Amino acid sequence: MKLEAVPGAPQDGDMEFVLATDKEFEEVVSMSHGIYGGLDYLPSRYHSWIVEKDRMVVLAKKGGNVIALLSMFVVDGGQTALLEGLRVAPWERGRGVAGVLQRFCCQLVKHRYPTVKVMRLTRDDKLTAKELSKYRVIAKQGILLVRFNAPDFSSRLSSLTLPLGLTRPPPPVLLNPDDVRGIFLERGGVLKDLLPNQTIIQDWQPFQALSGNHDLLRRKSLRWMVDDLSQPQVASLCTAPFPVPAGPLCFYLNIDVYGTGLQGIQEQLLSHLAAHAPSLPADVKCQLFLPPSMWRPMADFCTSVLGFHLEKGYTEQYLFESDI
Ligand SMILES: CC(C)(COP(=O)(O)OP(=O)(O)OC[C@H]1O[C@@H](n2cnc3c(N)ncnc32)[C@H](O)[C@@H]1OP(=O)(O)O)[C@@H](O)C(=O)NCCC(=O)NCCS
Repeated sequence: MKLEAVPGAPQDGDMEFVLATDKEFEEVVSMSHGIYGGLDYLPSRYHSWIVEKDRMVVLAKKGGNVIALLSMFVVDGGQTALLEGLRVAPWERGRGVAGVLQRFCCQLVKHRYPTVKVMRLTRDDKLTAKELSKYRVIAKQGILLVRFNAPDFSSRLSSLTLPLGLTRPPPPVLLNPDDVRGIFLERGGVLKDLLPNQTIIQDWQPFQALSGNHDLLRRKSLRWMVDDLSQPQVASLCTAPFPVPAGPLCFYLNIDVYGTGLQGIQEQLLSHLAAHAPSLPADVKCQLFLPPSMWRPMADFCTSVLGFHLEKGYTEQYLFESDI
């Protein structure tokens, strides 16, 4: 569906903006070839995104062909628009298309959702000084990317021995939806000091710790864990595995970790892996987002104890915000 001009939005004679449909899927996939180091989530999410409540997936077209995509998702009880999935066709990069599309989408969101006050986005690349001046930094996490072969790891799982600490933490607790609401999403909840700026960042998507986000987080089939129900020091959430373009039968697992208790993090990582690895056919790329100080000890654990391959050195994920 062609989007009509939106008051205040930029006009570009050559470009038209449309809402994405199933029809453009192949074009979007082929323009996305090779991005995000083979971990592009969009091919797995495109069809659900285009029908998701409070989400708009906008395409820029030139001469009838797709040249860029951006999704805006309204969360936090209508206060925040998340900017996601941005990509520009390789032959159109470096000409400001991303900026024009973002300004169009921000005006569209303001027009359709007048309650939205801010937009948020996560990035792992280096921003220019000009870009940095546009945003407030809300949170920062370290990114640890490892690869392992799932059948091989599953066969070794029962014989793995964890390094012994002075005191062994209690076994991690898997949360049910009511626990998630009480522990993660209610202001003043027990996790308030653990979450960076009261924000749950789930596989690049930031959500404020508000109960208004409960239903949409529930739809995601995540595994939520804490080390202790009443006074958690470590918490984590893990996506259900999904295929990525990195290789044939390659699956991706994303695990977000809060807290700095090393043994607790190790136990929760093992629990998530034990739940998912046995059902996976081949290589898995597993990305852990964690407090920066935990990157080195967890990289050592993953390589020396679990025998995983470290895919890249320390990188960071930033969560930015600007008024809309
Ligand atoms: C990153 C990418 C979208 C930039 O598109 P582009 O049209 O070539 O970007 P340009 O440098 O011409 O445009 C610059 C504008 O885009 C914005 N921009 C560039 N990269 C951005 C990013 N990763 N996230 C948000 N905005 C970005 C700049 O802030 C600038 O905005 P301004 O016009 O308001 O100053 C494009 O190179 C691409 O598709 N890369 C592969 C996918 C990818 O890495 N996506 C980023 C996801 S975070």
